[in-house]
Amino acid sequence: MHFLAIETSCDETAVALLELEGRQGSRREPKLLAEEISSQVELHQDYGGVVPELAAREHMRNLPLLVDKLLGDRGLSLKDCGAIAVTRGPGLKGCLLMGVCFAKGVSVATDAALVGVNHIEGHLLAPLMDNPDLEFPFLALVVSGGHTEIVEVRGLGDYVILARTIDDAAGEAFDKSANLLGFPYPGGAGLAALADAQQSSRFKLPRVMRAAKGFSFSGLKTAVSVLVKQHQAHLDDPSIKGELAYAIQDAIVDALCFKLKKAVKASGIRRVAVSGGVSANQCLRARIREMKGVSLYLPSFGHCMDNAAMIGHVGALRYARGDRLPLDADVLSRWPVEEIR
Ligand code: KG4
Ligand code: ZN
Repeated sequence: MHFLAIETSCDETAVALLELEGRQGSRREPKLLAEEISSQVELHQDYGGVVPELAAREHMRNLPLLVDKLLGDRGLSLKDCGAIAVTRGPGLKGCLLMGVCFAKGVSVATDAALVGVNHIEGHLLAPLMDNPDLEFPFLALVVSGGHTEIVEVRGLGDYVILARTIDDAAGEAFDKSANLLGFPYPGGAGLAALADAQQSSRFKLPRVMRAAKGFSFSGLKTAVSVLVKQHQAHLDDPSIKGELAYAIQDAIVDALCFKLKKAVKASGIRRVAVSGGVSANQCLRARIREMKGVSLYLPSFGHCMDNAAMIGHVGALRYARGDRLPLDADVLSRWPVEEIR
């Protein structure tokens, strides 16, 4: 059976086509056949962040075209899809509505089954797609522009939050710091590349909230802003800018790894999966690999960032379990992991 997946929770319009083998209730993993993605990064760059209204309009324009291409390239049409998975939340309300309304329309027209997926659950289970040897239970570090959480993943829909941020997300800390250094939005990857080219830094940023359970990045943001202001006149000196980037990346990665180590120790679980946009960070990956006795599982590079394959993956697992989204269901702009059933 062909399975269509749609992701429109933020600034990427993404669609994927999967194939489901076996009967309902079987535990076979869905197979990814194709995916398409349209990024809105350039559209939002002038504003220094995602503008919800513009993002929603862009989804409205792009979604039908992407679905057309995804299916058309394989000689298929919407009638060939037996089920549709769509991101129901969390995310920007107007953006979520575009994906969910489109999916509902298709479901009404073709009788396809409809499954609503939690975006974070998509990230949480994304490492399973590309690592067939990853088994439950595992610890998942979800680090993106909107989320920073360590979750004990016991099975589909069985999640225990071990730590989460009380303010900014790790990706936000990267992007806001990058902005202070003059990188266009979202500057996380640019800052990381500059930091990776350095061996050390003369600057040191504070380590905050070590004793607390959760993460906090707002204090770091203030410290970065003070430090960058002190050296503003010398930012065109590549060694100053590079060493500032190194110190920022070091502080963010250190905060993530410190809490991750604590979670591994407390839970006794040594399988660690990292996902979300910041999981593309090479320094973070290297430091987790250095942790004694820990096995690291990563999604493929394209599945670290927002994508529809991860929504289709969770959608197919939930479809097999019998989960369906009723036609009168609303989108959920807030939908924390602990409320996923
Ligand atoms: O998961 P994602 O694509 O979207 C959200 O759901 O937020 O994550 C995007 C975030 C951005 O903050 C971006 O700057 C960050 O991931 N990011 C990185 C790197 N690549 C992407 N942060 C640090 N190092 C990277 N290499
Ligand atoms: Zn995401």
